[in-house]
Amino acid sequence: MGTDSILVRGNHTLAGEVKISGAKNSALKLMAASILGCGQSIIENVPDISDIRLMSEVLERLGAKVQREDHRLKIDTSSLDSFSTPYELVSKMRASISVLGPLIGRFGQAKVAMPGGCQIGARKIDMHLVGLEALGVKFAVDHGTLIATTPDGLKGAAVTLEFPSVGATENMLMAAVVAPGRTIIENAAREPEIVDLCNMLCAMGAKIEGAGSMNIEVLGVPLEELGPCTHTTVGDRIEAGTFLAGGAITGGPVTVQGIDPDYLRMSLMKLDAMGCQVSCGDDYITVSRTGDLRAADIQTLPHPGFPTDLQAQFMLMASLADGVSLITENVFENRFMFASELLRMGADITLEDHHAVVRGVDHLQGAPVSSTDLRAGAALVLAGIVADGYTTVYEVQHIDRGYEDYVGKLRSLGADVVRQSAACGR
Ligand code: EPZ
Repeated sequence: MGTDSILVRGNHTLAGEVKISGAKNSALKLMAASILGCGQSIIENVPDISDIRLMSEVLERLGAKVQREDHRLKIDTSSLDSFSTPYELVSKMRASISVLGPLIGRFGQAKVAMPGGCQIGARKIDMHLVGLEALGVKFAVDHGTLIATTPDGLKGAAVTLEFPSVGATENMLMAAVVAPGRTIIENAAREPEIVDLCNMLCAMGAKIEGAGSMNIEVLGVPLEELGPCTHTTVGDRIEAGTFLAGGAITGGPVTVQGIDPDYLRMSLMKLDAMGCQVSCGDDYITVSRTGDLRAADIQTLPHPGFPTDLQAQFMLMASLADGVSLITENVFENRFMFASELLRMGADITLEDHHAVVRGVDHLQGAPVSSTDLRAGAALVLAGIVADGYTTVYEVQHIDRGYEDYVGKLRSLGADVVRQSAACGR
């Protein structure tokens, strides 16, 4: 294993308070949205994670200047002069596809390498393309690069998404804001990160109504009416949910600070159903548990349904619960690899298509395991904290993509976790 790993000593409890970072799945799109405003935008509460560094590189390749000061990003797009993103960057991070809409909005064209799939699924972009074509975009594919043009210009349109795709909704929004006329996106994604993006676009001068609902309406404005802005990223609900799951599994109490509890309503309902005590304030959530964990059925769905990005963390909880849980993954076609790693730690899980039958066991055993995606990796560290003995989690670069100082935050809650550099060969 040529990558860093995390060594975890088991039988520990997580208790205390942790500050949640800004949302990865919002900040990346806010950075892309800055393309639409010529000048310097400032984005606050940006997490210090590898995906953000990659998106900064994408923007710099386009000609923008990106400066990080602690958790603040200053993005000056005055000198942005390219509408083409190279394969080697897009292949490292699928979310680079989020520059497609704003590049079309700013230049009327774009050349973006087609993103590949990843461990959790094919991650197609057909809905992005159908939605943008409705706005007047023409696409061609040339040796793996998507060529977008608008020979007759953009125009507002009514589009119904086949599935409330987060990425497709975002790309459509960032083109529609400068498409003359009215655009209606039906069956739009309703995630809090969509609302955050719409709030920033409106601060830049866009006219958007219905953010967070199934139907979003955009009144296009001329590009020159959009300008830079200052915007603060919302808290990361998935990072928060990850630490809450840690508190639920070990007993807590764990408080996550800097998150709107409304973003996690379904997850909090499941924590309660599984025997936890949950209390909330305006910007914090506390979870603890005194009795046994109880089994619960979970099915992942687009927001406000149960988030797929917390499926692994709650599968871990179910693997230690009293009873049998049925977990159904409806969003991605291959997001049960975490189960295979958990089986190595003594869990009792049967996979059947997109269902996982999880029979609770008394305890897990520490073991060497490997991260398959960032959420599974984060959950494996939590599994090690509660297991008997030592666990080594390999391929932690996945975790670095979406969790700022995960080891440091867990240590502040009492975990005995240490990052081991591959360079030391330990
Ligand atoms: C975003 O991915 C998030 N990533 C994902 O988080 C998250 O799991 C997902 O939304 C769902 O909430 C970022 O925001 C960077 P989708 P996205 O378009 O936009 C299929 C994490 O761990 N689909 O809603 O790619 C797609 O294959 C990551 O932080 C098409 O078939 O999600 C998937 O099965 C993982 N065609 C489903 O829809 C399309 O054109 C949901 O995709 C678009 C999507």
